[in-house]
Amino acid sequence: MAVDILKISKDAIEASKHYDDVINASIGMFYDEDKSIGGMPTVSKAIKHLTDDEILPYPAVDGGPIFKKNVIAWVLGQYEQSIKEHMFVSACATPGGSGAIAATFSIFSKPGDSIFVSDIRWQYERFADRAKLNVFEHALFDGDHFNLKSFRERLVELCKKQHEVIVIVNDPCHNPTGFTLSEQEFKDILYIVNEMRNNSIVFLYDLAYLEYSHEDNNRIKISHLPMLQDHVITIIGFSGSKTFGVYGLRLGAAIILAKSEEKVKSAHLKYVNEARGSWSATPTASIELFNKFQIAENKANFLKDLNKINTLVQQRSQSFVRQALEIGLKTHPFRSGFYTVVLTKDPEKDYLKLAEHRIFAVPMNGGVRFALCSLSLKEIEGLPQKIKTILDL
Ligand SMILES: Cc1ncc(COP(=O)(O)O)c(C=O)c1O
Repeated sequence: MAVDILKISKDAIEASKHYDDVINASIGMFYDEDKSIGGMPTVSKAIKHLTDDEILPYPAVDGGPIFKKNVIAWVLGQYEQSIKEHMFVSACATPGGSGAIAATFSIFSKPGDSIFVSDIRWQYERFADRAKLNVFEHALFDGDHFNLKSFRERLVELCKKQHEVIVIVNDPCHNPTGFTLSEQEFKDILYIVNEMRNNSIVFLYDLAYLEYSHEDNNRIKISHLPMLQDHVITIIGFSGSKTFGVYGLRLGAAIILAKSEEKVKSAHLKYVNEARGSWSATPTASIELFNKFQIAENKANFLKDLNKINTLVQQRSQSFVRQALEIGLKTHPFRSGFYTVVLTKDPEKDYLKLAEHRIFAVPMNGGVRFALCSLSLKEIEGLPQKIKTILDL
């Protein structure tokens, strides 16, 4: 179901010129309670203070040594040293997490191959279409839990047909459901990937919403990556768009980890080549902006902004989920993040019906996705009831 989310959002913006009761829950951008997008003042300020030298020149294609060191340190956090004791690590700047995904598909697959994804997912098929790939699905849920049985059975099936397999795991704050894997579920996924030792596995770990997880330790799962064996290369897709709320700047990275130095070096060269042959280089402004937040004082201020946003996003989601529960509106198991999915019978028709009532959301496999990150608490009050009434659920 490849709908154009940006188009739905545009329709919502157009409708809001004529009506003042439009609910635009279509797109994963954080808006403040007063509907302003500048929810991170430290980031907005840092952008305005970038100098010509930090914006205008061409950057290094991979972001340069400082960016690479910084982005690896940011994502691996307190586990950087222990991971580096067991794995080689490199990185390449990309225009958003999207760039990391598109490049990974292009580098590690050939037309006609299948990528391994969950049945409920973000729009990976858009990237797959471009690379002429098919999708091969496993069931995401077994009740309220990750469906390990389906993950194993389906991966075994695909590994019999295809030697090199890209396995995508989107966690924490899975888009579109808001599900987050437990540490044990994540380890079990890694055990299963390790079992496929006759294949070559690319473990694409899409953690675009890493900073929005409400786990006690949002990097503990990353600390388990060194258990992956020689036949696996891990690519972490980092999204600066989501982390810093700079959706239009295009900031991201592919972080490459493997047991073999040779493999990491060769993959790094391929990402650089991929960049040169497609987007050329990630904007200098994005790279420099990211580097600013490695200065301790800036990072501390940013984390304060982030904390505010994060608390608000969680309050919004919890309000929606609580109301839904009270009136018997079914959603997928939700833990944290920007979105939740209301289960409906005919998502393709249902999202259009909602749009007729000026509620703009996105159809997904099995339901309609609401980006609660962009709605105020006031807009969310009563929204589940409206949805239930309109869709007669
Ligand atoms: C699951 C997931 N991964 C990756 C991305 C890519 O984000 P960006 O390219 O804006 O960094 C998104 C954006 O919505 C997403 O939801």
